[in-house]
Parts: sequence; C-alpha cells; structure tokens
Amino acid sequence: MHVAIIMDGNGRWAQRRGLPRPAGHRVGADAVDRAVTAAAGRGIDVLTLYAFSCANWQRPLAEVRGLFRLFRCYLEEQTQRCLEQSIRLNVIGRRDRLDPRLLEAIEHSERSTEQCKGMILRIAVDYSARWSLMRASQISSDIVDLDHDAFAHRLATVNHSVPVSDVDLLIRTGGECRLSDFLLWECAYAELYFVSRLWPDFDADDFESALLEYSRRDRRYGRIDDEAVDSPEVHHA
Ligand code: FPP
Repeated sequence: MHVAIIMDGNGRWAQRRGLPRPAGHRVGADAVDRAVTAAAGRGIDVLTLYAFSCANWQRPLAEVRGLFRLFRCYLEEQTQRCLEQSIRLNVIGRRDRLDPRLLEAIEHSERSTEQCKGMILRIAVDYSARWSLMRASQISSDIVDLDHDAFAHRLATVNHSVPVSDVDLLIRTGGECRLSDFLLWECAYAELYFVSRLWPDFDADDFESALLEYSRRDRRYGRIDDEAVDSPEVHHA
C-alpha cells in the first residue's frame, strides 16, 4: 500500500501560539518521525511526504533556507534510524536547484539505505507534478507505442524516484481540500482523505483513523460491483 501525505498547517500551528512560522516547521519534523514510525509499524510499503513544492520558492528566503536546513538535518539524523528499521530513503523532485550540501545529504541517505527492504520513505523536495509530467512528456516524445507503464517509468526517472506503485491513500492535513500539484498522475485512483488537524499535531491515532476510513472505501477503478451487473437498475440505466 502506498500512502502519500500533504503535510499542511505548520505555519498556522506556530502563529496560533505566537511563534514564528519556522517553529511550526521544526515541530512538523517531529510529526514526520511519528508518521514514519506509524506507517512502518502498520506495514505500509511506500510513504511519500510532500515537504517542499516548486511553488514554495515564493516564500520568504529565510523560511526557505530554514526548511532546507531542516531537511538536511533530518536526513543526517534519520539515516541511521532508517537503516535500523530497514527503511529505504528516496528524495523525489528536481535536483538542479538544491543547495550542494543538501544534495550531498540526499545522495548519502539514498546510497546508505538502498539495500533496505522494508518501507520506502519518499520525501518530495522541489517537487511539482506538472513539471514532472511535462518533463516526462518531453523525454517520451520519440516513443511510438507509449503505454501507462512506460510513461510512469519516465515520470519516475525525472523525479529521481525508485519504482513504486500508484498512491492508494492521499492524506492532507490542515483543512484544505486540494492536491496542490502533488503526484497528479500517481493519484489517479487514490482515495483522498482531508483532515483539519494541523500537521504538527498529527499523530499515530490520526494516521490510524485515516487507514480506517480507507478500509471503508469501496475502490472500483471505474468498474461496477459484480452483484450490480444483473440488477434491474443497471439494465434500465
Ligand atoms: C506546509 O505548511 C508545510 C510545508 C511547506 C513544509 C513541510 C515541512 C515539514 C513538515 C518539516 C519537516 C519535513 C521533513 C521532511 C523533515 P504551511 O507552512 O504552508 O502551513 P500553513 O498553511 O499553516 O501556513
């Protein structure tokens, strides 16, 4: 199962406490730890976290720098823990605009954990689904019999992603109900779960509630139920 999370609400969490926004991001990093532990504990195959979108470059420089510092520290501190839990780390998104020190930390974490066979933890940094789709289209234009799998493979390539299945469950915290340019191709049949909880408050119980709601959803991928095939309503429809 592939779970993706749009971690929204750090800024509001901080502002409500009279703190600067970066404080919300720092506490948000603790919520990342909780989510990773909860997901690995529940046997989730892939967890993708939206940490920084291409649109986030428009934020004040100090906030952007603070976030990148936080990502680097996270990778430096958590790589060993990932190894202990057999979690494979993978950072998806553009790499051409990242600070060399962050890039080095990313490559080190990915190399160190590439043999790990447990959960794949993907962190989306400088990521835009539209950018990925455009780049994948450009590099696919010479392929005559392009099918879904071949295109998905190219999408993975431009995102520096290890091959993973599509998203099954997308969680967004913070109360907004939109995708914000996140995994648009991969979420084609994802179940969407929006929750008002701000990301720094998100905990294992919230993760469990999302999984419970997911288990109640009826995923049909455009099909109809077998019992419905012979029912009069369907014939008359
Ligand atoms: C959106 O909340 C959050 C972000 C743009 C950054 C996400 C970063 C973290 C959770 C920090 C730790 C991450 C890792 C991978 C270590 P927002 O700031 O837009 O909140 P707001 O909508 O309340 O303003």
